[in-house]
Amino acid sequence: MEQYIIKGGISLAGEVNISGAKNAALAIIAAAILADEKVKIENVPKVRDVEVLIQAIDGIGAGVEYHNKNTLTIYGKSINSCVIDYDYIRKIRASYYLLGALLGKYKRAEVALPGGCNIGSRPIDQHIKGFEALGATVKIEHGMIIAEAESLRGGHVYFDGVSVGATINTMLAACLAEGQSVLENAAKEPHVVDVANFLNSMGANIKGAGTDVIKILGVEKLHGSEYSIIPDQIEAGTFMFAAAATKGNVLIKNVIPKHLEAITAKLIEIGVIVEEYDDSVRVIANERLLHTHVKTLVYPGFPTDMQPQISALLATSKGTSIVTESIFENRFKYVDELSRMGASIKVEGNSAIIDGVEKLTGAVVTAPDLRAGAALVIAGLVAEGYTNVEYIEYIERGYEEFEYKMQQLGASMAKIDANDTKAIQRFKKKVS
Ligand code: UD1
Repeated sequence: MEQYIIKGGISLAGEVNISGAKNAALAIIAAAILADEKVKIENVPKVRDVEVLIQAIDGIGAGVEYHNKNTLTIYGKSINSCVIDYDYIRKIRASYYLLGALLGKYKRAEVALPGGCNIGSRPIDQHIKGFEALGATVKIEHGMIIAEAESLRGGHVYFDGVSVGATINTMLAACLAEGQSVLENAAKEPHVVDVANFLNSMGANIKGAGTDVIKILGVEKLHGSEYSIIPDQIEAGTFMFAAAATKGNVLIKNVIPKHLEAITAKLIEIGVIVEEYDDSVRVIANERLLHTHVKTLVYPGFPTDMQPQISALLATSKGTSIVTESIFENRFKYVDELSRMGASIKVEGNSAIIDGVEKLTGAVVTAPDLRAGAALVIAGLVAEGYTNVEYIEYIERGYEEFEYKMQQLGASMAKIDANDTKAIQRFKKKVS
């Protein structure tokens, strides 16, 4: 099994290019099947989650053609099935976007019900509420969600809680419904806006994305389009934290600084210099950082997908920090792994109380999920000696060429099969 081996202690320096947003790409690929014409999508990140979704749409007959590793064309006309089985859903929950897309286009979708996941229970009641508001009947049988309608008509839905997934899924289904739909208490995340912009580029009529209320006037059909996905806010934030944690000086390119404001504000608060340019940010840290309190919130608050990474950063900051998770209930699984590296963290309820230590020391650690895995890499970059991060398949779900990008910034980090002792020795010799 492959793992990352990192020799810590190097300050990251140089430039890194951020890939397209994974969470936007997943929704946009699902949305692309709504048209019967070809849809060309650029800046698609080459990450495992995207590959699995591509396999899922290929499996129901859609055409997929890669032009290069980050550009592809999707052709939804040849779809011949509305059934997505558990194999795909088990690998990525976001294949549930095919529920909204297939229901919208064919008025029927059968998609396996996603289970819980490593960061907590993940109900889909709000997605169902959205579909029902459009006149669909939704039932759960034999582990499948079956949504169907004679015809979809515009509806009014007030979401009980803010959900990125439910907002996007309802938007997908509503594009081709008859009349106007109004989604209230909608999610405002940058990828919600990107999906709406993409759908509008295919001829949809969506207004208000990025605010609490999204209005969708159904159109008869959607046409082909060419679209480029926004940069990944979370990948950018991860590199910003890695630069700060290693007391580095890194220019993070191809970003939208506005999407990074919550992350930038926290960095400045703890003593990091952040310079903003049109489409890049420079992160410079020269001395030991300060403590802070952070609470995850929906956009434009501090993103839950950056919560493990900020804990890794604060693990070696001066003083006591408190990180509170308010979106998912089980997102502190990495704390035990960080503790094995010498961090002093105690979890109480939905908060982690972090007493900053002077240094971390390398250890063999296990990535419990995608973002927690990235946090362990940040810790490994800071730690004294060698860190082996296992279960990197989680990290590869969402980071394109992670070890390569880190290497470009000077990190001593490699992806090596755990059984390949010779390669491990070679790496250690090279970096010693
Ligand atoms: C998306 C992101 C994920 C990010 C999360 C929050 C994708 C593919 N994933 O996940 O990386 O961490 O947003 O920014 O874009 N909820 C319900 N009922 C529902 C749906 C959600 O109770 O029907 C709850 C969830 O349990 C959670 C909260 O709402 O507590 C937010 O979840 P949601 O925004 O839906 O997250 P996802 O779309 O699954």
